[in-house]
Amino acid sequence: MTERKSFYITTPIYYPSAKLHIGHAYCTTIADAAARFKRLAGYDVFFLTGSDEHGQKIQLKAAEEKVTPIQYVDRIVAGFQQLWQRLGISNDDFIRTTEERHQKVVQEIFRRIYAKGDIYKGEYRGLYCTPCESYWTERQLKDGMCPDCGRPVQEVAEEAYFFKLSNYADRLLAHIEANPDFIQPVSRRNEMINFIKQGLDDLCISRTSFDWGIPVPGDEKHVIYVWFDALTNYLTPIGFLDDATKFGRYWPADVHLVGKEIVRFHSIIWPCILMALDLPLPRKVYGHGWLIVGGDKMSKSKGNVVDPNLLIDEFGADAIRYFLLREIVLGQDGNFSRDALITRINADLANDLGNLLHRTLNMIGKFQAGVVEAAGPATEISVALRTAARETVAEYEREMEAMELSPAIKRVWAFIGRANKYIDETAPWALAKDPAKKAELATVLYDLAESLRIISVMIAPFMPATASRIWSQLGQKGSFDDVRLNDIKDFGALSAGQTIGRAEQLFPRIEIEEEAATAKPVMKEKPAKETKAEVKGSAGGGEVTFEDFSRIHLRVVKILTAEHVPGTDRLLKLTVDLGGEQREIVSGIAQHYEPETLVGKTVVMVVNLKPAKIRGIVSHGMILAASQGDGLRLLEVDMPLGSQVK
Ligand code: MSP
Repeated sequence: MTERKSFYITTPIYYPSAKLHIGHAYCTTIADAAARFKRLAGYDVFFLTGSDEHGQKIQLKAAEEKVTPIQYVDRIVAGFQQLWQRLGISNDDFIRTTEERHQKVVQEIFRRIYAKGDIYKGEYRGLYCTPCESYWTERQLKDGMCPDCGRPVQEVAEEAYFFKLSNYADRLLAHIEANPDFIQPVSRRNEMINFIKQGLDDLCISRTSFDWGIPVPGDEKHVIYVWFDALTNYLTPIGFLDDATKFGRYWPADVHLVGKEIVRFHSIIWPCILMALDLPLPRKVYGHGWLIVGGDKMSKSKGNVVDPNLLIDEFGADAIRYFLLREIVLGQDGNFSRDALITRINADLANDLGNLLHRTLNMIGKFQAGVVEAAGPATEISVALRTAARETVAEYEREMEAMELSPAIKRVWAFIGRANKYIDETAPWALAKDPAKKAELATVLYDLAESLRIISVMIAPFMPATASRIWSQLGQKGSFDDVRLNDIKDFGALSAGQTIGRAEQLFPRIEIEEEAATAKPVMKEKPAKETKAEVKGSAGGGEVTFEDFSRIHLRVVKILTAEHVPGTDRLLKLTVDLGGEQREIVSGIAQHYEPETLVGKTVVMVVNLKPAKIRGIVSHGMILAASQGDGLRLLEVDMPLGSQVK
């Protein structure tokens, strides 16, 4: 038996200096889609992600929270792992740089390079800002002062270890020039070539000013510089020190997927470390673009940080994955907006894909008693559809192999459109009325079911949960994990005689209704009469279960701006901060509050309420208030932004 080809893909390991945002989720989703595709294509895949837990910044964060660094990172990293699970990330391992297995690797690498003479002890000179505990270069200063706090900096010199990057610059340049695919996209490659040509300084790889890091072997007052520690993560879980067979199978990595700002570390420093270790270089470093929000880089101070957990609560993981992979062209920056996300969900998922599945299953249920019959003779139009299916699979494979994810998705959706059109062209409901057309009807319905089977496999890398839901609704047997790309290359592999499963809606449409200006977007206390009926559990049937209640996500938010909605006397437009993310909502409280008195109030909001368009403004949530008679007061709380109310 020939061994399966291997494929090793990595994401950067994320800093636990804060919770992850949608930009981090974007990066990991790309890698996940690529890994899932390769598994589908029959590769032996190893997909790695993890956390980069050392360094001064983490040590300071922990001190701020009055916990030890390990207590601090344990908590944040548990959140990373939970997010990846919720997002359907299929990583084969999760590396934490604080694990013992990693510490061993880093120290061993340090020892080997030191023994070779490519690490030496020298003096690090820099400009130090004591209050900020930060080192700066001359160029980074603002008017000669610390760029963060504006205070004076001092020149300091400390003993440090250096790595002779300069020894490897020529070899690296030759490698980049001889391997056009090594750094992608090409714009990043050109940047790196220019950078190297300016000359590489030796790299300082140890610090003595803090101690949250891996000690330098034999000189423990030094800790190893965080990038030297972080980059070597890629070697740890694939058996660098303890499993030569595994290491031989997966190294060199096929793709290090990284954000554009860290391509430099991966395509210059990392290859030089590998050359010093006499290890082969990774096949590719791919620098993806940044996800921006409202045209701006996400940042806490701008309040435009989007929390992926809230989005998953609201729209489900597959919809978010679809949006990120479809909307943003790999390598370029792309904009995230809730409105664009909702438009995609409605148009592509609920409409195009949902309707195709729904119409097909409905007709098989109605016209064939729920059993997919064998196709009758092929008609001209059927041959055209089958040809389109084969071509789509072939082109999809080519694009996915080249990591052209967005074009591949668009191609699949073009085929979904083609299949929907096939229904309109063949009008199966008319064929069903004529017994003489039974064979023709069988061809149409078989073609549709088979197209959906093929579509489900092609979308599996992007929307794994949806793919297997379609699979089981088609009545396919076996586990979706065993399905391979080869199973969809020939149109007609769907076996006839299969009973379809229970039809379920894949993506409910997100209605953004035009609500009347009299809408009541604040929750009011129920009239006493109704409440009594609920307590008795009689008449109104108004009881909710705990599960029902827990589907409502309530958070503490702060009102940032408030203004009247023109032409109304009840409505205010508010911007609220959810602890990083900002939302716009419309609230019917203008008769109870002057807008300026609301700014700065910390209140409770339903964050997963269906968006509603009110007077042309899309309202993304609802703040809570208590009311009696004509009086109304918002529920104000004294808790940090983003806190859950339960
Ligand atoms: N710990 C280092 C990586 C070490 S890899 C050996 C690091 N961590 S990070 O948490 O700051 O960033 C991790 C990745 O997230 C980077 O690739 C970065 O580009 C990516 N992103 C951070 N913000 C992003 C967006 N807004 N959009 C897309 N990716 C973004 O750097």
